Amino acid sequence: MRTVYVNGDYVPEDQAKISVFDRGFLFADAVYEVTGVLEGKLVDFPAHAARLARSLSELDMPMPMPEADLLAIHRELVTRNGLEEGMIYLQITRGAADRDFVFPKGAEQGVVLFTQSVPGLADAPAARRGIRIVTLPDRRWGRRDIKTVQLLYPSMGKTAAKAQGADDAWMVEDGHVTEGTSNNAYIVKDRTIITRHLGEEILHGITRAAVLRMAEEAQLKVEERPFTVAEAQAADEAFVTSASAFVMPVVEIDGTRIGSGTPGPIATRLREIYLEESRANAI
Ligand code: PDD
Repeated sequence: MRTVYVNGDYVPEDQAKISVFDRGFLFADAVYEVTGVLEGKLVDFPAHAARLARSLSELDMPMPMPEADLLAIHRELVTRNGLEEGMIYLQITRGAADRDFVFPKGAEQGVVLFTQSVPGLADAPAARRGIRIVTLPDRRWGRRDIKTVQLLYPSMGKTAAKAQGADDAWMVEDGHVTEGTSNNAYIVKDRTIITRHLGEEILHGITRAAVLRMAEEAQLKVEERPFTVAEAQAADEAFVTSASAFVMPVVEIDGTRIGSGTPGPIATRLREIYLEESRANAI
């Protein structure tokens, strides 16, 4: 059984409790982060902490504790659960208060963290095969740059993708791909990597920032702009990135094979570089 962190205490997972009045539960009034763990160490923690601070501030919530204390809790959970490979989930809610649409004043913020062990995450068979994508309309709210826990639509999307025999979905708005259900989306054409520009339409992925930096260091061209599904289907390669999937090749979009139908060389190489650098720099 796992040990989880809830509002100041480390407790066995079956004893962890939050209030039924918690606004995370009632209003999805909460933000989260998912940090990858490799060899028992945290990947890109400072960047996750910085994005967390931004998400909170966009919703008029303070950081509940200094970054160093958050880091200490992450590390304590890794140790207590003997976590080698997987991720840590962190959620911060506005707290428990009488149900009212107006933000309450003075509620004590909720802080919950737990580990998720995924043995073999770095050496995932899916990364050798590539994943299949279907597209669907992006019906999420307009501030996707804030990492809130409103994940019902992405959850419906991934479930629908699985029901169609695919692995995941990419969402489309005004004819252009925004991102995946829980990852950023990329295509590669003539050795140029194309991915949507940052804005309120997508989450500013921590893995995205790292991978684009690594791509430029590897002398690959990067274009940050919207692309259509047709352009993606005609691309040489496609892939997604996230803290839990790293760089994952995409080999099919809406039934159309991408390139050779196997993971492309650039996606494969970026995955290797990303894993290598993450292992070297994890804390
Ligand atoms: N999801 N876009 C969306 C909508 C996401 O939910 C995520 C991450 C990303 C990638 O961001 P990052 O590289 O910082 O993980 C992009 C996490 C992993 C999740 O919900 O489990």
